[in-house]
Amino acid sequence: LDVVVTLIASRPSFALVDHDGNPVTEHHFRGKFVLVFFGFTHCAMVCPRALERLSAVLSDLGPDAERFTPLYISVDPDRDSPEVMKAFLQSRAPAFTGLTGTQEKVEDAKRAFRVFAQRRATPDAPDGYTVPHTAITYLLSPDGRFLTHFGDAVPAPTVVARLRSILNDADLSGRSHDG
Ligand code: NI
Repeated sequence: LDVVVTLIASRPSFALVDHDGNPVTEHHFRGKFVLVFFGFTHCAMVCPRALERLSAVLSDLGPDAERFTPLYISVDPDRDSPEVMKAFLQSRAPAFTGLTGTQEKVEDAKRAFRVFAQRRATPDAPDGYTVPHTAITYLLSPDGRFLTHFGDAVPAPTVVARLRSILNDADLSGRSHDG
């Protein structure tokens, strides 16, 4: 896992469409810390659990949650249109912005984050397939640098503590630069 993560681009880039239909790249999200999770709206277990956990993390951060932009990037763009993403997130995880795009652009985004996701025939699933995927949350700095990641098993309070520590470090280094 750590080998995979070290291969992530130092500044992951993407060119996708947000859940309101606007074209966006990584530059659009500069200025805030960015939490990135990949998944698909038909996901039965991994995504609902991860989105619930990350929503709890943001809730626990209180006002500091404003310093983060949480993104949910689809690995199933054939089904996950912007409209589908928006409706799904409004009911599941309203803090998140959903991103989707063409198959090619989604493949580019997956490559930038070294995300694995591949369609698998699953007869009893909707439309006969699922898309098993990497369940890692990535954290980017406000200037778009990959900072760290959180595995799916890291408890929400641990994620909150690490994010608070990163915010404190950023505030301290910001002050020393000002001085
Ligand atoms: Ni999922």
